[in-house]
Amino acid sequence: MAGIELGFLAPHAWIMVAGEREEGQHDQTTSAFRLAAEEVARLEPDRLVVASPHWKPTPHLRIGGAPRYTGTLDEFLPHINEGLPLEHRRDLPPVPYDFPGVPELAARLLQAGESMGFPVQLEEKPEALDHGSMVPILYLNPDGKIPVLLLSIEEGSKERSREWGEIIGKELTRAGLTAVFVASGTLSHHFMFDSPDALWPQGEKWDKKFMDGITNGECCESVFGLSDEEIAMGELEAGGLHGLYMLLGALGTFPVASVLSYEGIVGVGSPIIRFEPAR
Ligand SMILES: [Fe+2]
Repeated sequence: MAGIELGFLAPHAWIMVAGEREEGQHDQTTSAFRLAAEEVARLEPDRLVVASPHWKPTPHLRIGGAPRYTGTLDEFLPHINEGLPLEHRRDLPPVPYDFPGVPELAARLLQAGESMGFPVQLEEKPEALDHGSMVPILYLNPDGKIPVLLLSIEEGSKERSREWGEIIGKELTRAGLTAVFVASGTLSHHFMFDSPDALWPQGEKWDKKFMDGITNGECCESVFGLSDEEIAMGELEAGGLHGLYMLLGALGTFPVASVLSYEGIVGVGSPIIRFEPAR
C-alpha cells in the first residue's frame, strides 16, 4: 500500500560513518541498524525519506531536489570538527555515498507545502551531505538503490512540524509510492567526550521515561504532551524532537513504537526506535 510503511528514530554519531571499522564500539546500535536494514531491504520501499537536524538550517523547510547525491563525509567533516573540542577532532576514512534523489517528488512536495502556506524551499543542487543524513543512509540504503528524499528540520511549533509530516505522507500516498521515513536524531544530548560508551545519568532517566511513554500504546500523546520544561530537562540537541514530530505526522495516528536498541555514545542517549503505522 502506498504511503509510509515504516519509520525509525535513528542516531547519527559521525564516528559511525566508519561503521564496522570502529570494531567493538556501539555494538547495540550497529546490530540494530543491521536489523533495520534487513527489514528495509525486505520491504523494498520506493523511497527513503531522511529528515536531518544537521542540514544547515535556513529560514525555510528545505527539500532535496537534486537528481543524484555523490561524495564522501570528508566534505562536511570540517563543520563537524568545528563543534568538537580540539583533542577530539579527527579525520575519517573517506567512506563514499552515491544514491539517486527524487526531483519529481520534491517538486510535488514544494507545491503541496506552498499551497498550505509552509515556508518550503527546493534545493536542486546537491550539497555536501551532513552526518545526520549520511549515517542512516549508509546503514539503511548501503548499496544506494533506494532514491532518497532529503529534508531539513526546523525548530518551529510542534504542530507545524507534525503537519509538514502529514503533508509528506499524503504526497507519497498520492504519488502511489511506498516509503520508509527516518527521523535522524537522538534523545538526551549531554556530551561526555572522554567516555565513548557513557550515558549521562540524568539523561538516561529522561530517555527511559520518554521511551516508556512512546511504547505504552499512547505514542503520539506522550510525545506531543511533553511541556517545554520537560523537554528542556533532556538537553536535546538542535532540532529537538521536531524530526520525530514530522515522522509521527507522516505515519498518522496511533503508530506502534518499539525500541530496537539503546546505548550511550559519548554521553548521548542514542536509541533506534521502530515505528509501524496502525493498520
Ligand atoms: Fe547530531
